[in-house]
Amino acid sequence: MIPTLRVERDDAANLSMQLATHLRELILAGDLPPGTRLPASRVLASEQGVSRTTAVAAYEQLTSEGLLVSRVGAGTYISDEVRTPPAHRTPFEADGHLPRLAHFSREISEQFFPRLTHPCSPRPFVTGMPAFDAFPMAQWSRLSAKYWRGARADIMSYPDATGLPELRMAICRHLRANRGLVCEPEEVFVFAGAQDAFLQIAQMLLDPGDRVWMENPGAIGARNAFLSRGAELVPVPVDAEGLDVAAGRRACPNMRMAFVTPAHQHPMGYTMSRDRRFELLAAAEESGAWIVEDDYVGEFHYGRSPLPPLKALDGAGRVVYVGTFSKALFPAIRLGYAVVPSGLVDIFERTLGAAAHGVSHAMQSIVADFIAEGHFSAHLRRMRDLYRTRRDALLAAGARHLDGRLMLLPTETGFHTVGLLPEGADEARVVEAVSAAGLATAPLSRFALSPLAVKGLTLGFSAVAPHEMEKGVERLAAALRALG
Ligand SMILES: Cc1ncc(COP(=O)(O)O)c(C=O)c1O
Repeated sequence: MIPTLRVERDDAANLSMQLATHLRELILAGDLPPGTRLPASRVLASEQGVSRTTAVAAYEQLTSEGLLVSRVGAGTYISDEVRTPPAHRTPFEADGHLPRLAHFSREISEQFFPRLTHPCSPRPFVTGMPAFDAFPMAQWSRLSAKYWRGARADIMSYPDATGLPELRMAICRHLRANRGLVCEPEEVFVFAGAQDAFLQIAQMLLDPGDRVWMENPGAIGARNAFLSRGAELVPVPVDAEGLDVAAGRRACPNMRMAFVTPAHQHPMGYTMSRDRRFELLAAAEESGAWIVEDDYVGEFHYGRSPLPPLKALDGAGRVVYVGTFSKALFPAIRLGYAVVPSGLVDIFERTLGAAAHGVSHAMQSIVADFIAEGHFSAHLRRMRDLYRTRRDALLAAGARHLDGRLMLLPTETGFHTVGLLPEGADEARVVEAVSAAGLATAPLSRFALSPLAVKGLTLGFSAVAPHEMEKGVERLAAALRALG
Protein backbone atom coordinates (compact mmCIF):
# COMPACT_ATOMS: atom_id res chain seq x y z
CA MET A 1 0.00 0.00 0.00
CA ILE A 2 1.30 3.44 -0.92
CA PRO A 3 -1.49 5.62 0.51
CA THR A 4 -0.20 9.03 -0.51
CA LEU A 5 -0.27 8.19 -4.21
CA ARG A 6 -3.13 9.85 -6.04
CA VAL A 7 -3.59 10.28 -9.76
CA GLU A 8 -5.73 12.93 -11.38
CA ARG A 9 -8.11 11.24 -13.67
CA ASP A 10 -8.92 14.24 -15.86
CA ASP A 11 -5.38 13.94 -17.21
CA ALA A 12 -5.97 10.35 -18.36
CA ALA A 13 -3.37 10.48 -21.12
CA ASN A 14 -0.68 10.90 -18.54
CA LEU A 15 -1.57 8.44 -15.78
CA SER A 16 1.65 6.43 -15.95
CA MET A 17 3.72 9.66 -15.97
CA GLN A 18 1.80 10.85 -12.89
CA LEU A 19 2.35 7.57 -11.05
CA ALA A 20 6.05 7.60 -11.86
CA THR A 21 6.37 11.25 -10.77
CA HIS A 22 4.71 10.61 -7.38
CA LEU A 23 6.75 7.50 -6.73
CA ARG A 24 9.97 9.32 -7.71
CA GLU A 25 9.19 12.10 -5.25
CA LEU A 26 8.57 9.60 -2.43
CA ILE A 27 11.79 7.73 -3.21
CA LEU A 28 13.98 10.84 -3.45
CA ALA A 29 12.44 12.31 -0.28
CA GLY A 30 13.44 9.13 1.56
CA ASP A 31 9.82 8.21 2.35
CA LEU A 32 10.36 4.94 0.51
CA PRO A 33 13.87 3.88 1.64
CA PRO A 34 16.20 1.66 -0.43
CA GLY A 35 15.20 -1.99 -0.23
CA THR A 36 11.49 -1.28 0.23
CA ARG A 37 9.37 -3.71 -1.67
CA LEU A 38 6.70 -2.14 -3.84
CA PRO A 39 3.30 -3.72 -4.49
CA ALA A 40 3.03 -5.90 -7.54
CA SER A 41 1.96 -3.90 -10.60
CA ARG A 42 -1.41 -5.67 -10.54
CA VAL A 43 -1.99 -4.58 -6.91
CA LEU A 44 -0.80 -1.02 -7.55
CA ALA A 45 -3.14 -0.83 -10.56
CA SER A 46 -6.17 -1.89 -8.54
CA GLU A 47 -5.29 0.36 -5.56
CA GLN A 48 -4.95 3.39 -7.82
CA GLY A 49 -7.79 2.46 -10.12
CA VAL A 50 -5.62 2.41 -13.22
CA SER A 51 -4.91 -0.26 -15.82
CA ARG A 52 -2.15 -2.76 -15.25
CA THR A 53 -0.37 -1.44 -18.36
CA THR A 54 -0.25 2.00 -16.73
CA ALA A 55 1.26 0.62 -13.52
CA VAL A 56 3.82 -1.46 -15.43
CA ALA A 57 4.80 1.56 -17.54
CA ALA A 58 5.40 3.63 -14.36
CA TYR A 59 7.62 0.90 -12.87
CA GLU A 60 9.52 0.52 -16.14
CA GLN A 61 10.17 4.24 -16.28
CA LEU A 62 11.60 4.30 -12.73
CA THR A 63 13.61 1.14 -13.41
CA SER A 64 15.18 2.81 -16.44
CA GLU A 65 16.12 5.74 -14.17
CA GLY A 66 17.87 3.33 -11.76
CA LEU A 67 15.43 3.98 -8.91
CA LEU A 68 13.76 0.53 -8.96
CA VAL A 69 15.07 -2.97 -9.49
CA SER A 70 13.07 -6.08 -10.29
CA ARG A 71 14.16 -9.37 -8.78
CA VAL A 72 12.82 -12.29 -10.74
CA GLY A 73 10.11 -14.02 -8.76
CA ALA A 74 10.59 -11.65 -5.81
CA GLY A 75 8.95 -8.41 -7.01
CA THR A 76 9.97 -4.78 -7.42
CA TYR A 77 12.18 -2.97 -4.87
CA ILE A 78 13.59 0.47 -4.33
CA SER A 79 17.16 0.17 -5.55
CA ASP A 80 19.93 0.06 -2.95
CA GLU A 81 21.83 2.46 -5.20
CA VAL A 82 19.35 5.31 -4.75
CA ARG A 83 21.15 8.36 -3.47
CA THR A 84 18.79 10.85 -1.88
CA PRO A 85 19.81 14.51 -2.27
CA PRO A 86 21.71 16.11 0.66
CA ALA A 87 19.65 16.60 3.80
CA HIS A 88 19.72 20.42 3.57
CA ARG A 89 17.02 20.92 0.97
CA THR A 90 15.41 24.27 1.78
CA PRO A 91 15.47 26.60 -1.20
CA PHE A 92 18.34 29.10 -0.94
CA GLU A 93 16.01 32.09 -0.65
CA ALA A 94 14.29 30.55 2.43
CA ASP A 95 17.37 30.96 4.61
CA GLY A 96 18.53 34.24 3.16
CA HIS A 97 21.36 32.92 0.96
CA LEU A 98 21.76 34.37 -2.50
CA PRO A 99 23.24 32.43 -5.38
CA ARG A 100 26.19 34.03 -7.11
CA LEU A 101 24.82 36.54 -9.59
CA ALA A 102 26.36 38.48 -12.43
CA HIS A 103 27.31 42.14 -11.93
CA PHE A 104 24.20 43.05 -13.97
CA SER A 105 21.76 41.43 -11.53
CA ARG A 106 23.75 42.31 -8.40
CA GLU A 107 24.36 45.97 -8.94
CA ILE A 108 23.00 47.47 -12.11
CA SER A 109 19.46 46.14 -11.71
CA GLU A 110 19.15 48.02 -8.40
CA GLN A 111 19.28 51.27 -10.33
CA PHE A 112 16.43 50.27 -12.63
CA PHE A 113 13.22 52.13 -12.38
CA PRO A 114 10.00 50.19 -12.86
CA ARG A 115 8.24 51.18 -16.08
CA LEU A 116 4.63 52.25 -15.82
CA THR A 117 2.31 49.30 -15.91
CA HIS A 118 -0.48 50.02 -18.29
CA PRO A 119 -3.90 48.82 -17.13
CA CYS A 120 -5.53 46.40 -19.56
CA SER A 121 -8.61 48.48 -20.00
CA PRO A 122 -8.44 52.10 -21.13
CA ARG A 123 -9.15 54.66 -18.37
CA PRO A 124 -8.96 58.44 -18.34
CA PHE A 125 -5.38 59.76 -18.47
CA VAL A 126 -3.65 56.45 -19.13
CA THR A 127 -0.54 57.25 -21.20
CA GLY A 128 0.87 55.53 -24.24
CA MET A 129 -2.24 53.55 -25.09
CA PRO A 130 -3.74 53.85 -28.57
CA ALA A 131 -7.49 53.91 -29.21
CA PHE A 132 -8.29 50.20 -29.20
CA ASP A 133 -11.91 51.06 -30.00
CA ALA A 134 -10.91 52.55 -33.37
CA PHE A 135 -8.60 49.82 -34.64
CA PRO A 136 -9.64 48.37 -38.04
CA MET A 137 -10.02 44.82 -36.78
CA ALA A 138 -11.85 43.55 -39.91
CA GLN A 139 -8.96 44.46 -42.23
CA TRP A 140 -6.47 43.10 -39.73
CA SER A 141 -8.31 39.77 -39.42
CA ARG A 142 -8.55 39.44 -43.19
CA LEU A 143 -4.80 39.96 -43.60
CA SER A 144 -4.05 37.56 -40.71
CA ALA A 145 -6.22 34.84 -42.28
CA LYS A 146 -4.53 35.40 -45.63
CA TYR A 147 -1.12 35.01 -44.02
CA TRP A 148 -1.97 31.65 -42.45
CA ARG A 149 -3.14 30.32 -45.83
CA GLY A 150 0.39 30.86 -47.18
CA ALA A 151 2.84 28.09 -48.13
CA ARG A 152 4.05 26.34 -44.98
CA ALA A 153 7.72 26.65 -45.89
CA ASP A 154 7.22 30.40 -46.17
CA ILE A 155 5.32 30.98 -42.95
CA MET A 156 6.73 28.42 -40.52
CA SER A 157 10.49 28.66 -40.60
CA TYR A 158 12.88 30.96 -38.70
CA PRO A 159 12.51 34.59 -39.76
CA ASP A 160 15.46 36.65 -40.90
CA ALA A 161 17.11 38.09 -37.76
CA THR A 162 17.38 41.55 -39.30
CA GLY A 163 13.70 41.68 -40.27
CA LEU A 164 11.43 40.48 -43.04
CA PRO A 165 12.56 42.09 -46.33
CA GLU A 166 8.96 43.05 -47.21
CA LEU A 167 8.54 44.79 -43.86
CA ARG A 168 11.88 46.62 -44.10
CA MET A 169 10.75 47.88 -47.50
CA ALA A 170 7.29 48.82 -46.19
CA ILE A 171 8.83 50.73 -43.24
CA CYS A 172 10.92 52.77 -45.71
CA ARG A 173 7.76 53.59 -47.65
CA HIS A 174 5.93 54.56 -44.44
CA LEU A 175 8.79 56.76 -43.20
CA ARG A 176 9.06 58.57 -46.53
CA ALA A 177 5.29 59.15 -46.77
CA ASN A 178 4.50 59.91 -43.13
CA ARG A 179 7.73 61.19 -41.57
CA GLY A 180 9.66 62.77 -44.44
CA LEU A 181 12.54 60.40 -43.81
CA VAL A 182 14.28 58.74 -46.75
CA CYS A 183 16.16 55.52 -46.05
CA GLU A 184 17.11 52.23 -47.66
CA PRO A 185 15.62 48.87 -46.58
CA GLU A 186 19.03 47.52 -45.60
CA GLU A 187 19.38 50.37 -43.06
CA VAL A 188 16.14 49.25 -41.34
CA PHE A 189 16.34 46.61 -38.59
CA VAL A 190 13.25 45.10 -37.01
CA PHE A 191 13.03 44.51 -33.25
CA ALA A 192 10.49 43.31 -30.69
CA GLY A 193 9.40 46.88 -29.96
CA ALA A 194 11.39 50.06 -29.36
CA GLN A 195 12.50 48.77 -25.96
CA ASP A 196 14.19 45.78 -27.56
CA ALA A 197 15.83 48.15 -30.04
CA PHE A 198 17.21 50.28 -27.16
CA LEU A 199 18.66 47.20 -25.49
CA GLN A 200 20.33 45.97 -28.67
CA ILE A 201 21.60 49.44 -29.54
CA ALA A 202 23.06 49.79 -26.05
CA GLN A 203 24.69 46.40 -26.46
CA MET A 204 26.28 47.38 -29.76
CA LEU A 205 27.25 50.99 -29.12
CA LEU A 206 27.95 51.42 -25.41
CA ASP A 207 30.68 50.20 -23.09
CA PRO A 208 30.45 50.29 -19.29
CA GLY A 209 31.25 53.80 -18.07
CA ASP A 210 30.27 55.52 -21.34
CA ARG A 211 28.38 58.72 -20.68
CA VAL A 212 24.90 59.20 -22.14
CA TRP A 213 22.96 62.45 -22.20
CA MET A 214 19.44 61.73 -21.03
CA GLU A 215 16.54 64.12 -21.13
CA ASN A 216 15.51 65.06 -17.58
CA PRO A 217 12.69 64.25 -17.02
CA GLY A 218 12.90 61.43 -19.53
CA ALA A 219 11.91 57.98 -20.73
CA ILE A 220 12.29 55.17 -18.23
CA GLY A 221 12.64 52.23 -20.61
CA ALA A 222 15.56 53.74 -22.54
CA ARG A 223 17.20 54.75 -19.26
CA ASN A 224 17.08 51.15 -18.06
CA ALA A 225 18.42 49.86 -21.37
CA PHE A 226 21.51 52.09 -21.16
CA LEU A 227 22.01 51.37 -17.46
CA SER A 228 21.96 47.69 -18.27
CA ARG A 229 25.18 48.23 -20.25
CA GLY A 230 26.76 50.03 -17.32
CA ALA A 231 26.45 53.46 -18.96
CA GLU A 232 26.76 56.58 -16.82
CA LEU A 233 23.63 58.67 -17.34
CA VAL A 234 24.01 62.45 -17.52
CA PRO A 235 20.73 64.26 -16.81
CA VAL A 236 20.23 67.16 -19.22
CA PRO A 237 17.31 69.53 -18.57
CA VAL A 238 14.54 70.05 -21.11
CA ASP A 239 12.54 73.20 -21.77
CA ALA A 240 9.82 74.11 -24.26
CA GLU A 241 12.39 73.74 -27.10
CA GLY A 242 13.38 70.23 -26.02
CA LEU A 243 16.78 69.08 -24.75
CA ASP A 244 18.92 72.01 -23.56
CA VAL A 245 22.01 71.24 -25.62
CA ALA A 246 24.08 74.06 -24.07
CA ALA A 247 23.40 72.61 -20.60
CA GLY A 248 24.42 69.18 -21.90
CA ARG A 249 27.69 70.58 -23.23
CA ARG A 250 28.41 72.18 -19.86
CA ALA A 251 27.61 69.04 -17.90
CA CYS A 252 29.45 66.61 -20.16
CA PRO A 253 31.06 67.81 -23.39
CA ASN A 254 32.40 64.41 -24.42
CA MET A 255 29.34 62.19 -24.24
CA ARG A 256 29.24 58.89 -26.07
CA MET A 257 25.53 59.02 -26.80
CA ALA A 258 22.51 61.31 -26.46
CA PHE A 259 18.98 59.95 -26.14
CA VAL A 260 16.17 62.25 -27.27
CA THR A 261 12.45 62.23 -28.05
CA PRO A 262 12.30 65.25 -30.41
CA ALA A 263 8.76 64.80 -31.76
CA HIS A 264 7.13 64.63 -28.32
CA GLN A 265 9.50 64.97 -25.41
CA HIS A 266 8.75 62.17 -22.98
CA PRO A 267 7.08 62.98 -20.66
CA MET A 268 6.73 66.79 -21.06
CA GLY A 269 5.26 66.68 -24.56
CA TYR A 270 7.43 69.48 -26.02
CA THR A 271 8.59 69.39 -29.63
CA MET A 272 12.30 70.00 -30.11
CA SER A 273 12.90 73.24 -32.01
CA ARG A 274 14.74 73.37 -35.32
CA ASP A 275 17.67 75.25 -33.79
CA ARG A 276 18.07 72.73 -30.98
CA ARG A 277 18.05 69.91 -33.51
CA PHE A 278 20.98 71.46 -35.38
CA GLU A 279 22.78 72.22 -32.10
CA LEU A 280 22.43 68.62 -30.99
CA LEU A 281 23.66 67.25 -34.32
CA ALA A 282 26.68 69.56 -34.12
CA ALA A 283 27.43 68.53 -30.51
CA ALA A 284 27.25 64.85 -31.45
CA GLU A 285 29.50 65.33 -34.45
CA GLU A 286 32.08 67.22 -32.37
CA SER A 287 32.34 64.54 -29.72
CA GLY A 288 31.88 61.57 -32.08
CA ALA A 289 28.74 60.58 -30.17
CA TRP A 290 25.69 58.66 -31.30
CA ILE A 291 22.22 60.13 -31.06
CA VAL A 292 19.35 57.75 -30.38
CA GLU A 293 16.18 59.40 -31.63
CA ASP A 294 13.05 57.83 -30.16
CA ASP A 295 10.17 58.77 -32.50
CA TYR A 296 7.58 56.73 -30.57
CA VAL A 297 4.60 58.95 -31.44
CA GLY A 298 6.07 60.84 -34.41
CA GLU A 299 3.10 59.91 -36.61
CA PHE A 300 0.71 61.87 -34.40
CA HIS A 301 0.78 65.64 -34.81
CA TYR A 302 -2.22 67.95 -34.66
CA GLY A 303 -1.02 71.38 -35.71
CA ARG A 304 1.09 72.70 -38.58
CA SER A 305 3.19 70.21 -40.52
CA PRO A 306 5.70 68.73 -38.13
CA LEU A 307 9.45 69.06 -38.39
CA PRO A 308 11.10 66.01 -39.97
CA PRO A 309 12.95 63.68 -37.60
CA LEU A 310 16.52 64.50 -36.61
CA LYS A 311 17.57 61.57 -38.71
CA ALA A 312 16.41 63.41 -41.84
CA LEU A 313 18.93 66.20 -41.05
CA ASP A 314 21.79 63.89 -40.15
CA GLY A 315 24.54 64.50 -42.71
CA ALA A 316 27.25 63.05 -40.46
CA GLY A 317 25.69 59.63 -39.89
CA ARG A 318 25.39 59.95 -36.11
CA VAL A 319 21.65 59.30 -35.62
CA VAL A 320 20.05 55.94 -34.91
CA TYR A 321 16.32 56.46 -35.42
CA VAL A 322 13.93 54.21 -33.47
CA GLY A 323 10.26 53.77 -34.36
CA THR A 324 7.55 51.51 -33.02
CA PHE A 325 4.20 50.07 -34.04
CA SER A 326 3.06 50.07 -30.39
CA LYS A 327 1.31 53.42 -30.77
CA ALA A 328 0.51 53.51 -34.49
CA LEU A 329 -1.06 50.01 -34.30
CA PHE A 330 -1.12 48.44 -30.83
CA PRO A 331 1.46 47.51 -28.17
CA ALA A 332 0.74 43.77 -28.04
CA ILE A 333 2.17 43.51 -31.54
CA ARG A 334 5.72 43.91 -30.15
CA LEU A 335 7.22 45.34 -33.30
CA GLY A 336 9.63 48.23 -33.54
CA TYR A 337 12.50 49.17 -35.79
CA ALA A 338 15.72 51.13 -36.02
CA VAL A 339 17.07 53.01 -39.01
CA VAL A 340 20.81 53.07 -38.61
CA PRO A 341 23.52 55.15 -40.33
CA SER A 342 24.97 53.29 -43.31
CA GLY A 343 28.25 52.94 -41.41
CA LEU A 344 26.50 50.77 -38.79
CA VAL A 345 24.65 48.45 -41.20
CA ASP A 346 27.37 45.86 -41.24
CA ILE A 347 27.75 45.58 -37.46
CA PHE A 348 23.98 45.42 -36.94
CA GLU A 349 23.72 42.66 -39.55
CA ARG A 350 26.56 40.70 -38.02
CA THR A 351 25.49 41.00 -34.39
CA LEU A 352 21.80 40.40 -34.95
CA GLY A 353 22.47 37.55 -37.35
CA ALA A 354 24.79 35.89 -34.83
CA ALA A 355 22.79 36.28 -31.64
CA ALA A 356 19.12 36.74 -32.44
CA HIS A 357 16.38 34.79 -34.14
CA GLY A 358 14.28 37.76 -35.17
CA VAL A 359 10.71 38.49 -34.20
CA SER A 360 7.41 36.90 -35.17
CA HIS A 361 7.36 36.28 -38.90
CA ALA A 362 3.55 36.36 -38.89
CA MET A 363 3.31 39.81 -37.30
CA GLN A 364 5.98 41.24 -39.60
CA SER A 365 4.28 39.89 -42.69
CA ILE A 366 0.80 41.06 -41.68
CA VAL A 367 2.10 44.56 -40.91
CA ALA A 368 4.00 44.63 -44.23
CA ASP A 369 0.74 43.84 -46.07
CA PHE A 370 -1.18 46.34 -43.94
CA ILE A 371 1.26 49.06 -45.03
CA ALA A 372 1.54 47.92 -48.66
CA GLU A 373 -2.24 47.86 -49.16
CA GLY A 374 -2.52 51.45 -47.92
CA HIS A 375 -4.43 50.61 -44.70
CA PHE A 376 -1.68 51.95 -42.47
CA SER A 377 -1.58 55.44 -43.99
CA ALA A 378 -5.40 55.60 -43.92
CA HIS A 379 -5.42 54.40 -40.29
CA LEU A 380 -2.86 57.05 -39.32
CA ARG A 381 -4.95 59.79 -40.98
CA ARG A 382 -8.07 58.66 -39.12
CA MET A 383 -6.20 58.34 -35.83
CA ARG A 384 -4.67 61.81 -36.14
CA ASP A 385 -8.19 63.26 -36.42
CA LEU A 386 -9.43 61.12 -33.56
CA TYR A 387 -6.55 61.97 -31.22
CA ARG A 388 -6.84 65.66 -32.10
CA THR A 389 -10.49 65.49 -31.01
CA ARG A 390 -9.55 63.66 -27.82
CA ARG A 391 -6.76 66.10 -27.04
CA ASP A 392 -9.14 69.02 -27.59
CA ALA A 393 -11.68 67.32 -25.31
CA LEU A 394 -9.09 67.07 -22.52
CA LEU A 395 -7.94 70.68 -22.87
CA ALA A 396 -11.52 72.00 -23.08
CA ALA A 397 -12.69 69.97 -20.08
CA GLY A 398 -9.60 71.13 -18.18
CA ALA A 399 -10.42 74.77 -18.92
CA ARG A 400 -14.01 74.19 -17.71
CA HIS A 401 -13.31 72.26 -14.51
CA LEU A 402 -9.80 72.66 -13.16
CA ASP A 403 -9.98 76.28 -11.94
CA GLY A 404 -6.23 76.75 -12.34
CA ARG A 405 -5.43 73.91 -9.93
CA LEU A 406 -3.53 72.21 -12.73
CA MET A 407 -2.11 74.01 -15.76
CA LEU A 408 -2.44 71.79 -18.82
CA LEU A 409 0.34 72.20 -21.38
CA PRO A 410 -1.11 72.58 -24.90
CA THR A 411 0.74 69.81 -26.75
CA GLU A 412 0.61 69.57 -30.55
CA THR A 413 1.75 65.95 -30.75
CA GLY A 414 1.59 62.56 -29.10
CA PHE A 415 -0.76 60.73 -26.78
CA HIS A 416 -0.50 62.72 -23.58
CA THR A 417 0.20 66.07 -22.09
CA VAL A 418 1.27 67.25 -18.67
CA GLY A 419 -0.66 69.15 -16.00
CA LEU A 420 1.68 71.42 -14.05
CA LEU A 421 1.02 71.88 -10.34
CA PRO A 422 1.47 75.21 -8.57
CA GLU A 423 4.80 75.79 -6.87
CA GLY A 424 4.90 74.21 -3.43
CA ALA A 425 2.31 71.54 -4.26
CA ASP A 426 2.88 68.08 -2.81
CA GLU A 427 3.12 66.00 -5.99
CA ALA A 428 3.06 62.63 -4.25
CA ARG A 429 -0.07 63.57 -2.27
CA VAL A 430 -1.83 64.79 -5.40
CA VAL A 431 -1.00 61.62 -7.36
CA GLU A 432 -2.21 59.49 -4.47
CA ALA A 433 -5.54 61.33 -4.36
CA VAL A 434 -5.97 61.24 -8.14
CA SER A 435 -5.14 57.53 -8.33
CA ALA A 436 -7.57 56.83 -5.47
CA ALA A 437 -10.25 58.43 -7.67
CA GLY A 438 -9.61 55.62 -10.21
CA LEU A 439 -7.62 57.79 -12.64
CA ALA A 440 -4.37 56.67 -14.29
CA THR A 441 -1.66 59.25 -13.83
CA ALA A 442 1.99 59.48 -12.87
CA PRO A 443 4.01 62.21 -11.17
CA LEU A 444 6.70 63.96 -13.22
CA SER A 445 9.20 63.02 -10.52
CA ARG A 446 8.83 59.44 -11.67
CA PHE A 447 10.68 60.37 -14.87
CA ALA A 448 13.37 62.42 -13.12
CA LEU A 449 17.05 61.54 -13.10
CA SER A 450 17.82 64.47 -10.82
CA PRO A 451 15.45 66.86 -9.01
CA LEU A 452 13.14 68.80 -11.35
CA ALA A 453 12.23 72.48 -11.28
CA VAL A 454 8.57 71.65 -12.03
CA LYS A 455 5.88 69.47 -10.49
CA GLY A 456 3.02 67.89 -12.31
CA LEU A 457 1.15 64.87 -13.62
CA THR A 458 1.00 63.05 -16.94
CA LEU A 459 -2.43 63.13 -18.57
CA GLY A 460 -3.05 60.76 -21.49
CA PHE A 461 -5.85 61.59 -23.91
CA SER A 462 -5.56 58.90 -26.60
CA ALA A 463 -7.33 55.95 -25.02
CA VAL A 464 -10.81 57.19 -24.10
CA ALA A 465 -13.70 58.92 -25.88
CA PRO A 466 -14.46 62.63 -25.19
CA HIS A 467 -17.52 61.95 -22.97
CA GLU A 468 -15.44 59.68 -20.71
CA MET A 469 -12.66 62.26 -20.69
CA GLU A 470 -15.14 64.89 -19.51
CA LYS A 471 -16.14 62.64 -16.59
CA GLY A 472 -12.47 61.89 -15.88
CA VAL A 473 -11.61 65.59 -15.70
CA GLU A 474 -14.59 66.19 -13.38
CA ARG A 475 -13.27 63.47 -11.07
CA LEU A 476 -9.76 64.89 -11.30
CA ALA A 477 -11.07 68.35 -10.41
CA ALA A 478 -13.03 66.94 -7.45
CA ALA A 479 -9.93 65.11 -6.17
CA LEU A 480 -7.85 68.30 -6.42
CA ARG A 481 -10.56 70.40 -4.72
CA ALA A 482 -10.72 67.91 -1.86
CA LEU A 483 -7.01 68.46 -1.22
CA GLY A 484 -7.72 72.15 -0.70
C1 LIG B 1 9.33 57.04 -24.55
C2 LIG B 1 8.84 55.76 -25.16
N1 LIG B 1 9.45 55.28 -26.24
C3 LIG B 1 9.04 54.15 -26.85
C4 LIG B 1 7.95 53.45 -26.37
C5 LIG B 1 7.50 52.22 -27.10
O1 LIG B 1 8.10 51.08 -26.61
P1 LIG B 1 7.73 49.67 -27.26
O2 LIG B 1 7.85 49.82 -28.75
O3 LIG B 1 8.76 48.74 -26.69
O4 LIG B 1 6.33 49.35 -26.87
C6 LIG B 1 7.29 53.89 -25.22
C7 LIG B 1 6.16 53.13 -24.68
O5 LIG B 1 5.35 53.55 -23.91
C8 LIG B 1 7.74 55.09 -24.61
O6 LIG B 1 7.13 55.58 -23.51
